[in-house]
Amino acid sequence: MKTHNLLLLPGDGIGVEIMAEVERIIEFFNGRSDGDSFETTSDLVGGAAVDAHGVAITDEAMAKAVAADAVIFGAVGGPKWDDVPYDIRPEAGLLRLRKDLDLYANLRPAICYPALADASSLRREIVEGLDIMILRELTGGTYFGEPKETVTLEDGSKRSVDTTLYTTGEIERVAKVAFDLARKRGNKVHMAAKWNVMKTGVLWREVTTQTHKDYAPDVELEHILADNCAMQLIRNPKQFDVILTDNLFGDILSDEASMMTGSLGMLPSASLGSPDEKTGKRKALYEPVHGSAPDISGQGLANPIAMIASFAMALRYSLDMGEEADLIDKAVAAVLEKGLRTGDIMQDGKKQVSTSEMGSAILEELGVLMA
Ligand code: IPM
Ligand code: MG
Repeated sequence: MKTHNLLLLPGDGIGVEIMAEVERIIEFFNGRSDGDSFETTSDLVGGAAVDAHGVAITDEAMAKAVAADAVIFGAVGGPKWDDVPYDIRPEAGLLRLRKDLDLYANLRPAICYPALADASSLRREIVEGLDIMILRELTGGTYFGEPKETVTLEDGSKRSVDTTLYTTGEIERVAKVAFDLARKRGNKVHMAAKWNVMKTGVLWREVTTQTHKDYAPDVELEHILADNCAMQLIRNPKQFDVILTDNLFGDILSDEASMMTGSLGMLPSASLGSPDEKTGKRKALYEPVHGSAPDISGQGLANPIAMIASFAMALRYSLDMGEEADLIDKAVAAVLEKGLRTGDIMQDGKKQVSTSEMGSAILEELGVLMA
């Protein structure tokens, strides 16, 4: 039996409320007489850290993140910090975590629970049974490329530049993760890029073709233009298994995919680094794909499922607790089956519950499954 060391970073807005539901699940596991347990520490990130320390994440919190077995992250940002300087905006905390821990592989599974097939904005037959994995490169591309700046020109107007930059190595390592994932799923990877317009797109196509040949000829690889991929996701999402794409396209395509699952409140994610040479352990951060939703925060309206499912991903990918992860997923499915819904996935004839009521129902179900 092991004790796992987790850093909890609830962040801003609904991040705080949904993290509270994960803490209850952690307490539940810690109350078991056998099985692994958890030690947790918490810290501030995002706007909360800006308010307290003047930076979106402190060096102390970064050190805790490096030391943890996994980081569990809520959400950051909100209109309150719209006018803080760019370098200390709340999102900078999240981006520093991703970059400094080198979390280059961002797994965003979009699964449509049967009970939610009618909550999607797409027709039931299009989304029912959907199970796709978006693998987003997370530490390169437009998010981090230099130069990234705004300069004032002589006439007083401005010129801004973001740089999209990728190297062979950056593409190759994330492509390998895509092929590894596909082997455990439907054995098919679509690589989405804009090789018809972007030099980085040409490189993505070249490197994934080569990596496929050398590393994973057994997996099916198809290249798809990113704009076509966006369209195909709406037209026929079930044709996809793993979608591999860069940082910016992945941000957009994963929000799009979330609506097929019923709500952005349903989508978890895992961000993984390279395996440590000695221990084989990867640095990892788990977060819901949705943001801090300041419009509904503090009212008990938030859907905690993406956060709870992110915690389940931590059990699966970092802590070797796949069985418990499966049970959490089962508990979520069962609660949805029983007709409990937070506002974002509410449908006629179902019962609307608050954030903590949803958390309680999942916990109760988990108790039954583990008894
Ligand atoms: C996401 C979010 C972040 C991103 C923001 C909060 C910086 O939208 O994780 O998808 O753009 O990567
Ligand atoms: Mg996003």
